Amino acid sequence: MKRRLFLLSAASAGLVAVTGVTAFALTRTPLRALQPWRDAGVSRSDPRRFVIEHAVLAPNPHNRQPWIVEFTAPETMTLWCDLSRRLPETDPFDRQILIGLGCFTELAAIAATAVGYRLEVTPFPEGEPQPRLDRRPVAHLRLIGDGAVKADPLFAHIKARRSSKQPYDLARTLPEAAAGDLAALSSPLAAVTTLADPALVGRIRNLTWEAWGIEARTRRTHMESVDLMRIGRREIEANPDGISLGGPMLEGLSIIGQLSRRQLAEVGSPAFEKGEAMYRAMLAGTPAYLTVAAPDAGRIGTFAAGQTYLRANLAATSLERDRLSLNRRGIPLELRF
Ligand SMILES: Cc1cc2nc3c(=O)[nH]c(=O)nc-3n(C[C@H](O)[C@H](O)[C@H](O)COP(=O)(O)O)c2cc1C
Repeated sequence: MKRRLFLLSAASAGLVAVTGVTAFALTRTPLRALQPWRDAGVSRSDPRRFVIEHAVLAPNPHNRQPWIVEFTAPETMTLWCDLSRRLPETDPFDRQILIGLGCFTELAAIAATAVGYRLEVTPFPEGEPQPRLDRRPVAHLRLIGDGAVKADPLFAHIKARRSSKQPYDLARTLPEAAAGDLAALSSPLAAVTTLADPALVGRIRNLTWEAWGIEARTRRTHMESVDLMRIGRREIEANPDGISLGGPMLEGLSIIGQLSRRQLAEVGSPAFEKGEAMYRAMLAGTPAYLTVAAPDAGRIGTFAAGQTYLRANLAATSLERDRLSLNRRGIPLELRF
């Protein structure tokens, strides 16, 4: 009798523990930070709001979301860079920030087609700022109603796109048709190429790993990332930008004191080494690369590279979704930046 009772109480303690873990996991989703994905497309009466609701879902470095948009007239907007949201240590010339702003305007342009508009984008209407971005506008945006415009097929993939931070399956090679579809996104301003030759891919993989090590072991560049880490749901909800370390596992580690900004900052600490192992697996797990090359190394070329990268990112998302509808197994093809 006693043994039965013991077994029963052990089982129910287990149940409580499992229920507790599940309940914990269920409450870790940062719902407020995810609101923009639910809001995109709700404003049907003002096309400017409609396009910007989509544009804010753009990929951008360290998720800094460095955009400021002013609605200047019923169908025009001005885009600026929020200069306080740049990354001076890892991006001293604001190239990456500008690529993110190119992604932003391309998403706006794609969203415009879904409500019957073309988006005319005039980059740097008051001149190209060098060597860093300044208070001049990044672009003027004008919505032009056009009955002939058809919704861009990439529009359907905006909410499914993400920058993957998982190792890919090295056994899966890039389908030739996918390489062709991606290369077809090339324009005179930016050429898209996929690289899958194993020897070349191996050399680039080594370079990315070496580069990761240099950035992570250089205090000022590493701290730029550490300072932007948002650990756990509360921090993510409070500042829904930066690098989110969320989910039940990471948050659990933080609660038991095994994951903190101080530990991540210290090269060689267990938390640093865990992050290093994660990136090593991710960078090693790359079977192919995609490059976007802009012949113009100035601001216009960099901006165009961002616009083209965004299209490639959405096109890869669509290719993967097509594949998943045929076969639910395998590792996604979406792009990792
Ligand atoms: C120009 C640019 C540079 C980026 N650099 C990195 C990087 O060095 N490491 C990384 O993990 N992600 C990088 N990203 C991806 C961003 O972290 C990601 O876009 C951002 O967190 C938003 O997430 P999402 O793309 O999944 O919506 C970069 C993105 C852009 C556009």
